[in-house]
Amino acid sequence: MINVAILGYGTVGSGVAGVIANHSGAIAAKVATPIHIKYILVRRDMPEGPFSDLFVKDFSVIEQDPEVQVVVETMGGTGAALEYTRRALLAGKNVVTSNKELVAEHGYELLQLARSNNLSYLFEASVGGGIPIIRPISQCLAANDLTEICGILNGTTNYILTRMIRAGLSFEEALQEAQEKGYAERDPAADVEGHDACRKICILASLSFGRHIYPSQADTEGITKITLEDVQYAEDGGKKIKLLGRAMRQPDGKVCAYVAPHLVDEESPLANVEDVFNGIVVKGDSIGEVMFYGRGAGKLPTASAVVADIMDAARHIESKKYINWAPGGADAAVSSEGVVTGWYVRADAQPSDVEKAFGDVAFLHRSGAPEEEKAFLTAPMTREEVEQRSAKLGVKSLIRVLGQ
Ligand code: HSE
Repeated sequence: MINVAILGYGTVGSGVAGVIANHSGAIAAKVATPIHIKYILVRRDMPEGPFSDLFVKDFSVIEQDPEVQVVVETMGGTGAALEYTRRALLAGKNVVTSNKELVAEHGYELLQLARSNNLSYLFEASVGGGIPIIRPISQCLAANDLTEICGILNGTTNYILTRMIRAGLSFEEALQEAQEKGYAERDPAADVEGHDACRKICILASLSFGRHIYPSQADTEGITKITLEDVQYAEDGGKKIKLLGRAMRQPDGKVCAYVAPHLVDEESPLANVEDVFNGIVVKGDSIGEVMFYGRGAGKLPTASAVVADIMDAARHIESKKYINWAPGGADAAVSSEGVVTGWYVRADAQPSDVEKAFGDVAFLHRSGAPEEEKAFLTAPMTREEVEQRSAKLGVKSLIRVLGQ
């Protein structure tokens, strides 16, 4: 029998407990031993429920119990979660987590700590919710030289954008729906301002390109400035607006990672990733392109990935399968300033001024637009160049366009 302690009993923690309880027979058969939840760490009094007998408030009970072999951290954040993860690894316990903030900020240190104690530190649920992506990149695609990861990595913002486009909901109404469905972060600013997607692209970049890339090294812009007008103009150009995380390996080996809204061609697979779904395209020299798609947030999809990691840790109690990357540093990453893409510009300007600044452009249209408002798509250029050229145009929106 493998004894497990779950830290946290929120959306993910309660989902993990439920999945283990509901699938105990099948899990035991697949792992060849039962998985038993021995403790659930809670920070405050919780209402009575099926797992109340397992609740403890003191982490040292778990830390000091030699029977606990796997600690499942679903608390979130980098405070107590970091302290307890370190202490669990130092106490000889394997750790499984869904905590993307912790992996993005401290992944290198925690992977090293796990390795030096001959333990697993697994985090499949940290990116893409229920979508398998960490294991495919570290194992199935290991024979490739990976060159780029590009994806819709945040379910909440994709849900909001989809509901705004399809149901004409306001931003606030759509966000409230996402919160009710358990998709959003405790502080939804992390979703709508792009920080959650940033943490995820940093984890994927570290895993794919071999050095730790920190969130502070990835330029990040969310969806709070996107308006229904932009959505309508994009539609006229045959495009949809999606929040993308991108990480690209430069010829010198450095990594450019960033998060920003993009206009995506409506025929492309990423444009058709809707609602809470995530889609992640991975490019490699042998594979060409492969796309991963599925539910990127929510209690059970995330619990599915966490429980699979618990099962993997249980199967590898004796012989570990290490995930690894090298330390980061200022020389590991470059900013997104040099990234060349087309741009969508919405501005108050005369067509002649637009053409003077940008030459031939594709103008877009929407019904009810004020006479002075112009929206258009530019040729590929850097952010600095588009800002310089549009400096006199009274710009209202500036959004990257993903190339074909
Ligand atoms: N808030 C996150 C999202 C949860 O919406 O994608 C899953 O990481």
